[in-house]
Amino acid sequence: MSAFTRISGVLHAESVSLVDVAAQFDTPCWVYSRVALEAALDEFQDQLIGFDALVCYAVKANSNLAVLDVLARRGAGFDIVSGGELRRVLAAGADPRRIVFSGVGKTAAEMELALTTGILCFNVESAAELERLNAVAGSLGKTAPISLRVNPDVDARTHPYISTGLKENKFGVAYEHARALYGRAASLPNLEISGIDCHIGSQLLDPAPFAEALDKILALVDQLATDGIVLRHIDLGGGLGIRYRDEEVPTVKAYLQPLLEKLKDRPLQVLLEPGRRLVGNAGLLLTRVEYLKPGEVRNFAIVDAAMNDLARPALYGSWHDIVAVVPRQETTAAWEIVGPVCESGDFLGHGRELALAAGDLLAILSAGAYGMVMSSNYNSRPRAAEVIVDGDRVHLARRRETADELYALERCLP
Ligand code: LLP
Repeated sequence: MSAFTRISGVLHAESVSLVDVAAQFDTPCWVYSRVALEAALDEFQDQLIGFDALVCYAVKANSNLAVLDVLARRGAGFDIVSGGELRRVLAAGADPRRIVFSGVGKTAAEMELALTTGILCFNVESAAELERLNAVAGSLGKTAPISLRVNPDVDARTHPYISTGLKENKFGVAYEHARALYGRAASLPNLEISGIDCHIGSQLLDPAPFAEALDKILALVDQLATDGIVLRHIDLGGGLGIRYRDEEVPTVKAYLQPLLEKLKDRPLQVLLEPGRRLVGNAGLLLTRVEYLKPGEVRNFAIVDAAMNDLARPALYGSWHDIVAVVPRQETTAAWEIVGPVCESGDFLGHGRELALAAGDLLAILSAGAYGMVMSSNYNSRPRAAEVIVDGDRVHLARRRETADELYALERCLP
């Protein structure tokens, strides 16, 4: 469902006009919809009825406490990749037994924190990490539940920066080494083998690579059983894409059904780690046109959001739809939508056909995932506010930073 619709021409989040949001919270401002978050999670949960399954939301996509809270209340677990994310999900009230910990570089301190918290599973990504985790768990007198993140070497056919399942990627353990490494894990005293994990990439639009990866993982599950290693769970990672422009996006059903078909007769708990699909289309970035600068070659609309807020266009060349909150009737022109940051790479959209005037509000759509979390303070720009709309109410989920907060941790020389 789309939670962002027009009422009398004006773009709303649920029942709240974005004109009112801008008046109350100023711009730039991230706007999330509770109903859209819940609907996205429900789409997964509905497919999983009858399965022993847990949807572990990939916190990296959007880690605002209010977002975590909404998803936790609806039954989500969490996939974290740092001690910082662990503290966040605990602050949002997450159940430790619904947390899995991914990532190639877990420090000893992060392992200690996760072990004392009592999380569900560590997704171990290398032989060296396995040894360290065993040592850290031993020093605490604890046993660490583990799965190995196995790299199935399938082509996710997505952007190279966000493809993770190929041999050349830094993620996971090589498929050919996995069996021996499970043997090693079984021999270590402070580890308890719980499952197997794989994640092949992000923004996948074709369900086929997921099935291809699962076939390889299940073959390994069977080999391990002959070695006497019987797994309790299988974690299929995240990666299902969303529509940014005109992509043909598989439904959650089309993505999950073929996978669940292969899993239905196996006594394995099913874990999933969706990020973008749960939050991407549930958020937008609200911005105001500061100046229009028409030119001979290009027309620039300089807005108050920038690459420090939404880095994806500059970083990946990704496309986000940009629409007027209150559309004008005048004839349109092609505008470069750019921010105030001193870089030519600071753009949010190229050649967008819009009728614009200074002061107009624009919404940059599908910005709920990898938006605020990837923002920075470049050019000493305070990070934008985040609000979450719930019906006809708006909650401030993170207040705007102030300029003096940006240097509060710094000191001049004595
Ligand atoms: N699990 C693991 C182990 C991951 O590395 C990721 C994402 C996910 C789950 C969630 O993937 P999703 O369902 O969101 O596709 N910043 C990039 C995306 C980076 C994704 C990193 N890993 C972007 O803006 O497109």
